[in-house]
Amino acid sequence: MAKPIYVLNGPTLNMLGTREPEIYGTQTLSDIEKMTAERATSLGHSIDFRQSNSEGQLVDWILEARTNASGIVLNGAAYTHTSVAMMDAISASELPVVEVHISNIFKREDFRHHSYVSPVSLGVICGLGPIGYELAIEALAAHLKK
Ligand code: DQA
Repeated sequence: MAKPIYVLNGPTLNMLGTREPEIYGTQTLSDIEKMTAERATSLGHSIDFRQSNSEGQLVDWILEARTNASGIVLNGAAYTHTSVAMMDAISASELPVVEVHISNIFKREDFRHHSYVSPVSLGVICGLGPIGYELAIEALAAHLKK
């Protein structure tokens, strides 16, 4: 059995559906988990979908992925813009990572324009809404096939 793709979600993404719906839409994180799992299954992959508000927990999961996962889809949320620790963990994981953001971070405040995740990622998908998670799975599946 192939290793799962870890889909890791950072702070406040547990509030999707009620959190600033004009920016993030009305789908909940559990809706996103369902659609992401379905897309992964259709491509012959499985996912392990998690959310934490804690930076250390996200770092631990990224490091755990090194041995337990085939790749990572990461929406680091606000830690994207602040976390050298998450960046170092991604480098240490030696795994392909696709960075996802539901909103278009480049249309928003200047502090969201910088990402510590992007320089250590395979690619970035942002601004397309929750479908970005499905697109990230598709991109990872294609990458892992190579
Ligand atoms: C986000 C964008 C981040 O800037 C923000 O802090 C989030 C969510 C997104 O998915 O659009 O919490 O990662």
